[in-house]
Amino acid sequence: MDLKLGGKTVLITGAGSGMGQHMAVGFASEGAKIAVNDIDPKGVAETIAQVKAAGGQAYDATADITDLGNVKDMIAATESALGGIDILINNAALLTEHTLYLETDPEACAREIAVILFGTMHCSRAVLPGMIERGAGKIINIATDAARVGQEREANYSAAKGGVISFTKSLAKEVGRHNVNVNVVSPGATNSPMRIGLQEEMRKKLGDERWKEREQKVMRMYPLRRIGEMEDITNTVMFIASDAARQITGQVLSVNGGFAMVG
Ligand SMILES: NC(=O)c1ccc[n+]([C@@H]2O[C@H](COP(=O)([O-])OP(=O)(O)OC[C@H]3O[C@@H](n4cnc5c(N)ncnc54)[C@H](O)[C@@H]3O)[C@@H](O)[C@H]2O)c1
Repeated sequence: MDLKLGGKTVLITGAGSGMGQHMAVGFASEGAKIAVNDIDPKGVAETIAQVKAAGGQAYDATADITDLGNVKDMIAATESALGGIDILINNAALLTEHTLYLETDPEACAREIAVILFGTMHCSRAVLPGMIERGAGKIINIATDAARVGQEREANYSAAKGGVISFTKSLAKEVGRHNVNVNVVSPGATNSPMRIGLQEEMRKKLGDERWKEREQKVMRMYPLRRIGEMEDITNTVMFIASDAARQITGQVLSVNGGFAMVG
């Protein structure tokens, strides 16, 4: 299926690593122009190099998305460099602590909510006037199945992502009449470098044998008996961002090997 993403301007937040970086290269391979946002300029430079190596066009949109002023400046600069943003992917996130809620640091909690929820809301606020004026746009918010079914030791992160899901549905109702689709793609466990790093830490902490037992237990929670790969997420996001998915809005699509089946 030709997704007709060629020539589209795509802004991806948190694209300096992991899934955001993978999506940047994926969209560029389809001929889209990529605005690469991240708070980490080194990550942005790395992604731009990868996009260029794939024959694509990329723009440095480094910014901290927790600040609305920064976001407005970054989006204005992106639009004068690449043209109006057709597709916004709110992917940036932060998971600072894996601990029981009562043991979490309130400041770390506030930062997670600022990046995940306010970052998504700020970027949406800044791109929407242009999308509405042009009568077209796609916003894809990356959540997590932890927000759909709950996850112990991730209460702050799940709360922020749950907010993103509710925001998506309400916004979809407001902007549908302007031909703007707003959806959530919700990954289950996915082998990004971030997850692989966490797994490595856990293997060291638990020792090989206990870690293997834990892995087997985790795998049994996935009916397809596999952990997701980054391409599983990129492929789904590209479909939702295309006009092949024009009738889909306000939805939460899990990409999770069957981990959670939410009606
Ligand atoms: N990997 C998984 O198993 C998994 C599972 C479910 C959901 N997700 C979600 O998928 C998305 C990508 O995850 P990943 O594994 O690639 O993680 P990652 O940590 O590699 O990517 C997140 C990026 O966001 C950036 N970022 C953080 N704060 C920012 C800020 N203030 N402004 C701009 N950028 C900022 C980080 O620098 C980082 O590059 C996230 O939304 C994550 O919550 C991941």
